[in-house]
Amino acid sequence: MKATAKAHTNIALIKYWGKRDEQLFLPTNSSLSVTLDKFYTETSVHFSPDFHADRFILNDQQADPKEMEKITTFLDRIRNLSGKSLYATIDSKNYVPTAAGFASSASGFAALAAAATKAIGLDVDYRQLSQIARQGSGSASRSIYGGYVEWQKGEKADGSDCYALPIISEQDWDIRVLSVEVTTKAKKVLSREGMKRTVETSPFYSGWLEAVEKDLITARDAIKEKDFEKLGHVVEANALKMHATTLGANPPFMYWQSATVEVMQEVEELRAAGIEAYFTIDAGPNVKVLCQPKDEHAVRDKLSLLTVVREIHHCRPGPGITYLPIEK
Ligand code: ADP
Ligand code: DP6
Repeated sequence: MKATAKAHTNIALIKYWGKRDEQLFLPTNSSLSVTLDKFYTETSVHFSPDFHADRFILNDQQADPKEMEKITTFLDRIRNLSGKSLYATIDSKNYVPTAAGFASSASGFAALAAAATKAIGLDVDYRQLSQIARQGSGSASRSIYGGYVEWQKGEKADGSDCYALPIISEQDWDIRVLSVEVTTKAKKVLSREGMKRTVETSPFYSGWLEAVEKDLITARDAIKEKDFEKLGHVVEANALKMHATTLGANPPFMYWQSATVEVMQEVEELRAAGIEAYFTIDAGPNVKVLCQPKDEHAVRDKLSLLTVVREIHHCRPGPGITYLPIEK
């Protein structure tokens, strides 16, 4: 009972920031993303009656007990759904920096959900797969699909109406996302912990909730109309709102470093010079810059002059999950 799957990361254009149910990973707001071609995870899962415990090897290293617990909890859900109580060995490789704001948790849990359900023999469609992936990491629900994806928050307490759906595919609209690396060090406040602290303590959180659904409608319309300027403006404004909530938390925290702000300011300068570029930032110091294909080189040339920039990864809209042949 083996299967291997590949899933790409996604970058949130409208952010998921806060849960209404931590056990089921139900979000307080809907979110929207684009799946990225460059960063991905490949995960093999093997269930066997010969195994006496779960094993998780990430990037050729045995996971620590805390990571192992997350994986076992996730596998338990899949075992419950299938009615089979088998242990698994998981071998996963991230072709993306882990826990550094490059969304390894999204590609990681999407690949694991796809491989584990297939290996255990569960017949699930993409909508169900997004619901399963969600329960490993919320943003993973969106990585099941390629292109532009919306994760609907749903209303029900059991999460049955909370899943991701594709808006348009990766072939439908070519934009570029330059992932500007200023550090690959693991972040201090993980997204999970950061959003929880913000929901519980930040007086700015109610403002976030008021604004985010409106931002999502604007972004969805912009994608359907392929209106890059409209999309860019709302994406940048939405990221700033999310990060503003962390400053009001107790204790307060911020994901930006001085290098982050330097990149943000450079993007503003690019716009002042007539080049349409917009930034977004997840729960880490690295910056993603959106631009149109015709401006990609100009944006790269300008940003690479900054001494704080270590590397620029060029991404395009990427595909959803795929299953790979099993290695013998
Ligand atoms: P990131 O910005 O990389 O998504 P997070 O803090 O949100 O950072 O998530 C990092 C966590 O995601 C890791 O601590 C681990 O629990 C999980 N993760 C990362 N890669 C994988 C993988 N390949 N398979 C399963 N889980 C993974
Ligand atoms: C800022 O999906 O990593 O990247 O559900 O607790 O695993 P958990 O959180 P996670 O949070 C992502 C937060 C974000 C915004 C986003 O991707 O929408």
